[in-house]
Amino acid sequence: MKVLVIGSGAREHALVRALTLDPTVDAVIAAPGNPGTDVLALNEPVDPTDPGAVVELARRHEVDLVVVGPEAPLVAGVADALREAGIRCFGPGAEAARLEGSKAYAKEVMAAAEVPTAMAHVCTTEEQLAEALDSFGAPYVVKDDGLAAGKGVVVTEDRAAAMRHGLACLAKGEDAQVVIEEFLDGPEASLFCICDGTTVVPLDLAQDFKRIFDGDEGPNTGGMGAYSPLTWAPDGLVEDVVARVAQPVVDEMARRGTPFVGVLYVGLALTSRGPRVIEFNVRFGDPETQSVLARLESPLAVLLAAAADGSLDDHDPLRWSPQSAVTVVVAAEGYPASPRTGVAIGGLEELTFGELAEHVHVLHAGTACDDAGELVSAGGRVLSVVALGDDLVQARERAYAAVARIELEGGHHRTDIALRAARGEIHA
Ligand code: AMP
Ligand code: GLY
Repeated sequence: MKVLVIGSGAREHALVRALTLDPTVDAVIAAPGNPGTDVLALNEPVDPTDPGAVVELARRHEVDLVVVGPEAPLVAGVADALREAGIRCFGPGAEAARLEGSKAYAKEVMAAAEVPTAMAHVCTTEEQLAEALDSFGAPYVVKDDGLAAGKGVVVTEDRAAAMRHGLACLAKGEDAQVVIEEFLDGPEASLFCICDGTTVVPLDLAQDFKRIFDGDEGPNTGGMGAYSPLTWAPDGLVEDVVARVAQPVVDEMARRGTPFVGVLYVGLALTSRGPRVIEFNVRFGDPETQSVLARLESPLAVLLAAAADGSLDDHDPLRWSPQSAVTVVVAAEGYPASPRTGVAIGGLEELTFGELAEHVHVLHAGTACDDAGELVSAGGRVLSVVALGDDLVQARERAYAAVARIELEGGHHRTDIALRAARGEIHA
């Protein structure tokens, strides 16, 4: 199989890596890819949100499967264009991608499918906003309706800050909407459900760390680290979430004539009243994918092709490594507000060839090669360091030993990824 992966982050590097480990895969093309995917795949430039350009690239390379990493191309209709051109694609069409593209739409589908989620008000005016904030009270949860790269949500005790964010969302345009939600307490979990329009195959659970600083302080980011499996999750949680969330949503989308093919990413809060959906995404999560795929032993291309073909019900049960995986994101100075780019990155050779390499791999995200061919930072989240270990304690030790070898002036990372889980301090 020849596979084209659309996107350029560490999630896409993880996808490319897992695809090249699948014996049915002869070649992988990453578009546009990054200096990390360049080692494993052929990087090709493309505007990922231009459906025509992606179709042209897939045709030119006669690929057997296209895997779309980020949400923006899906919302822009890249999967529709590929399918119309007769090219096999893993990823939902633009209409189904609205599950991520509009929080208000996701709420509507959840209501129709009777999926447990936070109560919410969709507001379009300042008066509605104020009323919704006061009806729920603190802590306030204020969400930009549209795509915001993980940065559109503010959770705060401060009513003035909640109001400011809500007004900023409304100021974005004539039909701008803001969603005010009931605050959900309890640990969070991410479940990636592979869907073929009808059948749902769940991957293993992961947890991600959205805030910039240790102890979940500071602003939300795209994600600063993740681990899998969730040693503390109650038995049967995955089956329960498939039965109560993923399958009803997939059925509802099919009923609407917009079948969901791709990853339905279910972001959950495990509250005292049971699991509640915090958000849907319509693609693999970043950085959870880096941890989840490090443990997947079944061939990834076979699984994603079966989803694209609508034949998941015939797929063999997934095989998982019993090991634990911990991913630590190394971010640029100034991330998330204003990341410093063009900073030299060192220490990677030792991690590729040294004694840690057996258990650790480094995935690229915001990296580039400068004019002299040297690796430099080119974005906020620069690298994902992924380590496997017999348990979370060992995986953490290895991940942080590797992070310590990386040289990036001003770079920073969280030191508490998977720490509370490793200590047995999380209870659902
Ligand atoms: P989202 O972009 O919807 O995933 O929200 C980003 C983060 O905000 C989530 O991972 C949660 O940590 C937090 N969050 C979102 N919605 C709620 C909620 N209703 N209650 C508590 N925290 C929330
Ligand atoms: N890890 C959060 C996301 O991918 O949206």
